[in-house]
Amino acid sequence: MTRIFSGIKPTGHLTLGNYLGAVRRWAEVDQHRADALFCVVDLHALTVEHDPARVRRLSRQAATLLLASGLDPELCTVYLQSHVDEHARLSYLLECVATDGEMRRMIQYKEKSARERERGGSVRLSLLTYPVLMAADILAYGTDEVPVGEDQTQHVELARDLAVRFNQRYGHTFTVPRAARPEVAARVMNLQDPTSKMGKSDDFGPGIVYLLDEPETVRKKVMRAVTDSGRDVAYDPEDRPGVANLLEILAACTDGEPEKLAGAYTSYGALKKDTAEAVVEVLRPLQERHRALCADPAYVDGVLRDGAGRARAMARPRVDAAYRAMGLSPA
Ligand code: TYM
Repeated sequence: MTRIFSGIKPTGHLTLGNYLGAVRRWAEVDQHRADALFCVVDLHALTVEHDPARVRRLSRQAATLLLASGLDPELCTVYLQSHVDEHARLSYLLECVATDGEMRRMIQYKEKSARERERGGSVRLSLLTYPVLMAADILAYGTDEVPVGEDQTQHVELARDLAVRFNQRYGHTFTVPRAARPEVAARVMNLQDPTSKMGKSDDFGPGIVYLLDEPETVRKKVMRAVTDSGRDVAYDPEDRPGVANLLEILAACTDGEPEKLAGAYTSYGALKKDTAEAVVEVLRPLQERHRALCADPAYVDGVLRDGAGRARAMARPRVDAAYRAMGLSPA
């Protein structure tokens, strides 16, 4: 059976980008067709300056939102990365296979380290090695497919390279994974700056729709989305990124196609109104389930505990094999 692994980082509140680009497909498709693991990658949240209490809170909230989005612990494994030591153990081994040049070429490292420096902070070494830990997340489970949004492509490529290199040097140990991207909404853009990705920890708050935003807030954010000076509605991501973004979001929320939807509108106002309502309707059931889950913390604890147990049992033999292959004797 195909093995799927994917993760989400608790560095901020989950966004519509996370949902349309990744989580929705995990729930609607992936957990039904494969042996799938979905992980709240809390260790990754420590790679930038953070408030420990906030990371704890956001990790819990992310896990609860994954369940609210429809991940079913009977069908897939949901857990916190820090509960399974194999991620960190394997990450170290892979650091001995990766090169520093490879790390410095990573686009997200360049962007995030520049941002940290601009803020006057220092760049943590773990930010540089982030992609190695991510490769460990993936390779520990013999993963075939990694369903992610477009921004993670380069990281999954690195995981592939490290798997191939490790296997060549030390004998076949890891499956070589591939990224799987959604057809629409692989890159949801910020509503206030449609040339940059809608990210959790962005400076353009009004351009980010969060999964727990109230309907009125969602409507306001979408109605105020930056479009462009053209009049007609056309799908042209290059020259009309704002309108294209709205069409992508509407298409993703209504199972439509952005090009076809463009032909159905003659004004930006109507497009925004329908997009806002479509987003509100997609978020409504998710928010209701989230409320119910928050009222039952023992259930969420149990899911995460069981998930970590299952994940550990899946990862351990392969990570031990990697230890042996590299010349160590696992305890
Ligand atoms: P993260 O937490 O930034 O995002 C989680 C998932 O959401 C997707 N995504 C988007 N998709 C479309 N439009 C957007 N604006 C948007 N923003 C985010 C991401 O592509 C991702 O699929 N490094 C990863 C977490 C990670 C991981 C892993 C993923 C750690 N280890 C192993 C896969 C496998 C990250 O920061 O995702």
